[in-house]
Amino acid sequence: MDLGLKGKVALVTGGSSGIGLATAQRFLAEGAKVAIVGRDTGRLEKAAATLRSGDNVAAGDVATFAGDVSSPADVEAMVAAAVKALGRLDIVVSNAGTRLPGTFDTLNLATLDAHWRTKVLGAWELARHAAPHLRKQASGRFIVVIGQAGKIPAANTIGACVTNSAQHAFVKALSDHFAKDNILVTAVCPSHISTPMTEGRKLEGERYLGQSLEHQESGWGLKVPLGRMGAPEDVANAIAFLASERASFLCGTNFDVDGGLQRMIF
Ligand SMILES: NC(=O)c1ccc[n+]([C@@H]2O[C@H](COP(=O)([O-])OP(=O)(O)OC[C@H]3O[C@@H](n4cnc5c(N)ncnc54)[C@H](OP(=O)(O)O)[C@@H]3O)[C@@H](O)[C@H]2O)c1
Repeated sequence: MDLGLKGKVALVTGGSSGIGLATAQRFLAEGAKVAIVGRDTGRLEKAAATLRSGDNVAAGDVATFAGDVSSPADVEAMVAAAVKALGRLDIVVSNAGTRLPGTFDTLNLATLDAHWRTKVLGAWELARHAAPHLRKQASGRFIVVIGQAGKIPAANTIGACVTNSAQHAFVKALSDHFAKDNILVTAVCPSHISTPMTEGRKLEGERYLGQSLEHQESGWGLKVPLGRMGAPEDVANAIAFLASERASFLCGTNFDVDGGLQRMIF
């Protein structure tokens, strides 16, 4: 299926690792150009070198911006830098972020606030600054990556539950707002995807719960109906479809990418 992404320009926050890096790779393979964002310059440049080494990728097809999406000034600058480097903006993937474990008793306000600024206000500012550029194409895409805690409230992830459900509300309300401009706002909800972030989770399990890495890997695999952890490419494929011309009647929707794990119907 031709996704119709050739010649388009995508900005991917958190594009230096895991799901974001796989998404940038997928866009390039479809003939798009990408700007990737992350805070760690070394990791960002390493990711850019990986992307530029792809088949049929020219050095100028990839731009980088070192910045923090929780900083409104950085968000404004990253959108401007992407447009300056690559000439236009068609697709934005708001993916940057990390895990937020902890209970009501253990989670401190500063950590919760930083997470909120990254996941909710970061996406908000990204949409604000991207909108004028997306409107120019009259066919923009704004895709938010939302962890599944937003749909499944639980005591040991209370901070992520609250933040991620706010992301869902943002996506749905924003999709109404931008629909008249044919800017389609959607979400992808990953769970159990093997990335550097979930490696950290396994190490916590080993350190604090005494679970071997092998036991955790097989345990997670057993819980997932498809019998394996997902790969970043599994999420990237869903994002590429939502970004594509083939998804032109999908607005405000969200896709679970979790191998069938979660039990919710709606
Ligand atoms: N993997 C899963 O199963 C899973 C499940 C639920 C949700 N998610 C969500 O999916 C997204 C991607 O996760 P991943 O698994 O691919 O993790 P990852 O491999 O750790 O990648 C996270 C990326 O986000 C960047 N980042 C983090 N905070 C940032 C900030 N404030 N400003 C700019 N960049 C920032 C990181 O770079 P720097 O650290 O250098 O900034 C990195 O590029 C995250 O939002 C995560 O919460 C993943």
